[in-house]
Amino acid sequence: GPGRPKPAPRPTFRSVLPNNDDKVTVPGGYDHHVIVRWGDAVLPDAPGFDVENQTAEAQSKQFGYNCDYVGFHQIDGDRGLLWVNHEYTNENIMFRGYTNGDEADVEHIRVAIQAHGGSIVELEREGRTGKWVLAGGERRYNRRVTGNSPTVLTGPVAGHDLVKTAEDPTGREVRGILNNCAGGMTPWGTFLTAEENFNQYFVGGDGVPEADKPALARYGIPTSGNTYGGRRFDRAEERFDLARHPQEANRFGWIVEVNPFDPGFTPAKRTMLGRFKHEGATIQVAADGRIAAYMGDDERFDYIYKFVSAKKYREGDTDHNLTLLDTGTLYVARLTGNSPEEEIDGTGALPADGEFDGYGDWIALATDTESFVDGFSVAEVLVHTRLAADAVGATKMDRPEDVEPSPVTGKVYVALTNNTAREPGQADEANPRAANKHGHVLEIVEHGGDAAAEAFSWAVPLVCGDPEDEDTYYAGYDKSKVMPISSPDNVAFDKDGNLWISTDGQPGTMGINDALHVMPVEGRFRGELKTFATVPVDAEACGPLITEDNKTVFLAPQHPGENGTFEAPTSVWPDGDFPRPSVVCIWHKGGQDVGR
Ligand code: FEO
Ligand code: CA
Ligand code: CA
Ligand code: CA
Repeated sequence: GPGRPKPAPRPTFRSVLPNNDDKVTVPGGYDHHVIVRWGDAVLPDAPGFDVENQTAEAQSKQFGYNCDYVGFHQIDGDRGLLWVNHEYTNENIMFRGYTNGDEADVEHIRVAIQAHGGSIVELEREGRTGKWVLAGGERRYNRRVTGNSPTVLTGPVAGHDLVKTAEDPTGREVRGILNNCAGGMTPWGTFLTAEENFNQYFVGGDGVPEADKPALARYGIPTSGNTYGGRRFDRAEERFDLARHPQEANRFGWIVEVNPFDPGFTPAKRTMLGRFKHEGATIQVAADGRIAAYMGDDERFDYIYKFVSAKKYREGDTDHNLTLLDTGTLYVARLTGNSPEEEIDGTGALPADGEFDGYGDWIALATDTESFVDGFSVAEVLVHTRLAADAVGATKMDRPEDVEPSPVTGKVYVALTNNTAREPGQADEANPRAANKHGHVLEIVEHGGDAAAEAFSWAVPLVCGDPEDEDTYYAGYDKSKVMPISSPDNVAFDKDGNLWISTDGQPGTMGINDALHVMPVEGRFRGELKTFATVPVDAEACGPLITEDNKTVFLAPQHPGENGTFEAPTSVWPDGDFPRPSVVCIWHKGGQDVGR
């Protein structure tokens, strides 16, 4: 639970400077190496990677594409389990001669489906620093979950008509997880992995029953015109054609729980946590032992959510804890500013009280047995969560990405990555900048410090951009002493409670590579943002994760070279030939704590 806030040690490393280098750059005194790359063996019988002769069979045993969220459990001092999401695929740089649409090679599509999902790889520590490498010896926990692996639906939606298909008349068994972006670790040792832009895999939305179209459209699935022109996952698997299988899309967009310690565990889609473009889910134990899961829906003008379990967490009782996400209450956030509306003009200028801040409440949408939204059953709230949240007047945010509680203070931080579509008249104190190109970070303080509270206060400690621009704000810190940041996406904490923020979009918004930054959020250095690492050309800085012993930063450069083609790559990281999404670790050469 929340402890007494203490001033965090000030990060003293020298910032990495903005650059466009095709490599990972770390501060002086630190080193890094690539732990695992797209195509590396995960399962013992995986064939060697051959980029010119890829097969779905091989890819189902090899490390997948576009690593995003990274979770890590140290299983004894020098061994650990790394979970990595494989969010999506860039066929244009994966395959020689790739073409879209009807011309696509069906085996390319089959490979792409197997390159999704997640991987578990065993690591071991090398030497006495924070350097981790792929483990040797028996690696019994190594595992691949793909876009085609068996999963189950659990919670109130399992078995409901809304998720029954010809292939699965029970409505309980789904093949695959798709577009798993960020995630979280639970206190009971499992990983949560979040299905985000699941809409992009489906075609045939024009052919569904008229009554189903508004819900599909609200989730970004086209429902008119020719929808068969782009990626054709349906050419590999018919279920992706909604004209033939209109409920299949309802089976994606969930938080999925994976138990890395039980290789026989079937990944479980936890329907009580709602269905939307889930960025991630992070857990905090409430004052009475129930657990809260914080979640963002990454879309312009979408919402921040919280789930609170009905049952209490019991340390050491895994069977019980694996049921916690199936019963409880799903909430959506409403934020109200405390300054007069006319003082929020959309320019980013601070109001007279000197801060973008206010109070908020968690609006209950449903429990597992009762809906609080007129016209929606429990299952409808959970499957059509965006429509239910629209109906109760939740606050439309600037693309909520990671939402994560500080393990030191219990305060909750939300990365709001950007929203260039917000009009000046739509600015509010929680989203104070129109045409919000660079994004901002929100800080939530639950009432009484209790994660199960239904009310909270909030503030905006960071309004991103070039610190020389007037519309940026670094918690009031001297802006001549901070680094630029744009498009905050994933967040993490070190053991001192400093906030680590990785970015997705700096090349487009500032002409510099994406980066991993760190910023104290308590004490006199609150707002002193530094840059800890930069990633290769066209890559996004995914992960990040700081190990519990504070000795290692895991960082996952995703989609290096995404704007090129296989034949004309814009990045050749990490090996100098073609780009490979990979996970790196960064450590201090002297074995000191990272970031200090
Ligand atoms: Fe996949 Fe919202 O980033
Ligand atoms: Ca205010
Ligand atoms: Ca993300
Ligand atoms: Ca993003």
